[in-house]
Amino acid sequence: MTDDDIDAVLEIERQSYARPWNREHFENEIQNPIAYTYTLRGLCNRRNRLAGYVVFWVVYGEAHILNLTITETLRRQGLGIHLMRKVLDMMKASLVDDVFLEVRKSNTAAIELYKKLNFKESYERKKYYGDEDALVMRLVFNENI
Ligand SMILES: CC(C)(COP(=O)(O)OP(=O)(O)OC[C@H]1O[C@@H](n2cnc3c(N)ncnc32)[C@H](O)[C@@H]1OP(=O)(O)O)[C@@H](O)C(=O)NCCC(=O)NCCS
Repeated sequence: MTDDDIDAVLEIERQSYARPWNREHFENEIQNPIAYTYTLRGLCNRRNRLAGYVVFWVVYGEAHILNLTITETLRRQGLGIHLMRKVLDMMKASLVDDVFLEVRKSNTAAIELYKKLNFKESYERKKYYGDEDALVMRLVFNENI
């Protein structure tokens, strides 16, 4: 993700969340040395369009997914899981041991996607979103070690 992507990212962000990130959030993450920000793009009617994006941090072998979003019109076509698989491959190559994320308890779509990738429900953070609890999910890469 670069600063030039942010206008299109914000459009998807606003259609996707009750409390969307703002421009500053994305600008900060693009500059943040521990953050990785990626977009997923493709040709649509011969135009290169933004389909989704992901933001995560890696700190000492631990990764934290902060944002995963696919534009509304392109959901349920395998793009979210494709983007996550790419990200998990990158994490493994960077010697990440485990991956955490928070998700709204009511967000069945995301919870099901993460379960498909072998994330397990870990614990709850009460009122994490103000109006709702978060489910913390965790994926351990080498569970046998
Ligand atoms: C969550 C999100 C990223 C999923 O992206 P997507 O591209 O639609 O997901 P995929 O098509 O790759 O789906 C992969 C699997 O996730 C699950 N899933 C996805 N959407 C689902 C839905 N609406 N209901 C139930 N399960 C769903 C299914 O198991 C699906 O596999 P299947 O289609 O073979 O049944 C997308 O819905 C989104 O951007 N939502 C708004 C933002 C958001 O909530 N992000 C997560 C924050 S933690």
